[in-house]
Amino acid sequence: MPEPSPQQRACITAVGTYVPERILTNAELARSLDTSDEWIVTRTGIRERRIGKPGETTSTMGAEAVRRLMTRRGIGPDDIDALIVATVTPDMLFPATACLIQDQLGLTRTWGFDLSAACSGFLYALTAGAQLVGTGVHQRVVIVGADLMSSIIDPLDRTTAVLFGDGAGAVLLEPAETGYGIVDFHHRVDGSGRNDLLMPAGGSLLPPSTATVAARQHFLKQNGRVVFKFAVSQMVESVQVLLQRNGLTPPDLALVIPHQANQRILDAVAERLGLPHERVASVLAGFGNTTGATLPLALDAALAGGHIKRGDLVVFTAVGAGFTAGATLVRWA
Ligand code: ACO
Repeated sequence: MPEPSPQQRACITAVGTYVPERILTNAELARSLDTSDEWIVTRTGIRERRIGKPGETTSTMGAEAVRRLMTRRGIGPDDIDALIVATVTPDMLFPATACLIQDQLGLTRTWGFDLSAACSGFLYALTAGAQLVGTGVHQRVVIVGADLMSSIIDPLDRTTAVLFGDGAGAVLLEPAETGYGIVDFHHRVDGSGRNDLLMPAGGSLLPPSTATVAARQHFLKQNGRVVFKFAVSQMVESVQVLLQRNGLTPPDLALVIPHQANQRILDAVAERLGLPHERVASVLAGFGNTTGATLPLALDAALAGGHIKRGDLVVFTAVGAGFTAGATLVRWA
């Protein structure tokens, strides 16, 4: 891969998040599924997750996250140049969720689009947005990661129903001061994993039919063990590629913010990088896996907890359906 060009860097200048009010605990799940709080906590680290109420959608959650971001940064609907929405649960296949959020917020000058990279979606959108700022064509780009996973999770499948939750997060990208901002990224896709994590029907391959509905093919399916192994190895490898390319070692990192899928995945990542667990961010216990939203939710919590300060090196890393994988290195501004 060529050396990144010395263009203007983008930095994250504000974060906004939203999760639905309704909390679904492990104990509640255990009433309808053959599972237990003990199994879920031990095998995943998840204690509860948020579930959207009727009428709540990916676009309404994403819009609320952007609204909160605008308030924090003190900007309004005329100030956003572009909006990229990472999601696998768009309100509908088209129009894009970005259009729906633009309309709900009355953003007057923005253009935008949706990006599909599953659990790596927010990371990829961050990279796409950073190029728009880096080339100088835009000053303010909003990146949203939002998913209403409850809309595609099979409530009868205990192997997936306990893992996921609903939520949204947004960050604002603006030009960075010299020496700060998004330093580098390393992303890759590997479509050989296409059958290990997918929603089989509803697209052009298997359009909706009574047969696809009867076969429950509009729900997420996964080969959990394969995904687990790929997640650990690829998150570690992506971080190591970035560190090596930038002359760094794991102790140089103030915080690793990984995609939140399973606490055992995060523990394995920490161990393989030789980092103490407190330097690997986790919000799994309260939210579960919110797909596009996990990275901004974890970032928001890390900032609120005072775990990131100016000048710190922070690495985001993710793995998702596809497979998709990657990491992004940031010098916090
Ligand atoms: N409650 C009780 N028992 C369960 C449950 C449950 N909710 N789910 C599975 N089991 C059972 C299985 O049926 C199996 O029983 P068996 O031994 O009688 O066959 C037993 O528990 C062990 O199953 P495993 O699949 O080996 O359990 P594992 O320790 O691998 O945990 C899990 C499963 C949690 C899915 C894990 O593999 C995982 O987290 N994988 C990553 C998947 C993921 O996070 N995907 C999300 C999107 S991609 C991403 O975010 C990176």
